[in-house]
Amino acid sequence: MPNNLEARVAGALTNVRNPRVDNDVISAGMIQDLTVGDGGRVSFTFLLGRDDSATIVREARAAVREVEGVSEVKVKVMEPGGPAPSQQSHAKAQPGSVPAPPQPDELPNLGSVVAVSSGKGGVGKSTVAANLAVSLAQQGLAVGIMDADVYGPNIPRMLGVNKQPQIRDQRIVPLEAHGVKIISLGLMIERDAPAIWRGPIIMKILQQFLRDVDWGQLDYLFVDLPPGTGDAQLSLVQTVQVRGALIVTTPQEVAIGDGLRGAKMFEKVGVPVLGIIENMSFFLAPSGERIAIFSSGGGQRLADELHVPLLGQIPLQAGMTDLADKGQPIVIGEPESPAAKAFQEMVGEVRKKIGAKSVKLPVLG
Ligand SMILES: Nc1ncnc2c1ncn2[C@@H]1O[C@H](COP(=O)(O)OP(=O)(O)OP(=O)(O)O)[C@@H](O)[C@H]1O
Ligand SMILES: [Mg+2]
Repeated sequence: MPNNLEARVAGALTNVRNPRVDNDVISAGMIQDLTVGDGGRVSFTFLLGRDDSATIVREARAAVREVEGVSEVKVKVMEPGGPAPSQQSHAKAQPGSVPAPPQPDELPNLGSVVAVSSGKGGVGKSTVAANLAVSLAQQGLAVGIMDADVYGPNIPRMLGVNKQPQIRDQRIVPLEAHGVKIISLGLMIERDAPAIWRGPIIMKILQQFLRDVDWGQLDYLFVDLPPGTGDAQLSLVQTVQVRGALIVTTPQEVAIGDGLRGAKMFEKVGVPVLGIIENMSFFLAPSGERIAIFSSGGGQRLADELHVPLLGQIPLQAGMTDLADKGQPIVIGEPESPAAKAFQEMVGEVRKKIGAKSVKLPVLG
């Protein structure tokens, strides 16, 4: 399967450790310019510090050669020019070794690309992305969801898919569940492979997901991002024109500070924040009473701060996690529940905000 070879090669490299810095060679910033060419020809630059043993290069070469589908491994060994390899990030590599940041493409077949992001982990990004996507598909729209959370992909589990995607005519065929097309790094790598994917590799994977997946013609593509403002966010906005970002937050003050940072990052790169979604807003007691478990009002405050709308407040729903673990987003598993109703209401707001088309057409005449 040529199309996930890159991920498997990178995975093999994350199993090679540099004992001096007690880290794998990718995390230690020792691998650069990794390319996986036609016919399984792999090449990369290995930045070997003066104090590092050359054995690691041999180990890295051997690990890559073992990957099924690899026919040739070319390694260029170089000394790191600047900081020690352990401190090197891809952005700070030697001049000449990093290509200029690519200009984002318009990929009209993807429809409106919407990033679902948050400053903090565990606030419900994946839950929101999955339920929004499924709700829109229920309205008859063509919807895709791309799990770009390379650190902890969980969209496949939440939507109940776990097959390896097939390759057809050299393109990756996305999986489908509840009417939504799905692709996830979680489907492409072995379950227990270390998920430490840094800069250039994340970029490659995202590009592949956007360009080489046979999405067909979509109306919306939701991108579930890892928390924070890291490589995945940057790679996404550099690869494709993103219509906007939805920021998920919980009502608590601490999450809001993080949300603000996340939102500012999108604004800095010219991606509008479409609105805020407050999750786990309150608990709806059987009596109908709204009980604020966390301190409340955070979503509104964040929205005010950013001058964007609060698009919805999703209550805390007992049993949501169990359903999600069975591949049933709440809008499917318990469509009459308060949380599902909140999602369904929010979909209208989100659609209005996104607008019909994200593609900027050239002005004629
Ligand atoms: N409104 C809710 N009511 C009850 N449980 C919820 C709610 N929203 C999310 N959860 C649960 O909280 C957990 C975290 O949610 P989720 O995985 O969507 O967050 P995330 O922001 O994507 O996390 P990560 O940063 O790890 O990717 C999950 O177990 C999910 O089922
Ligand atoms: Mg998630």
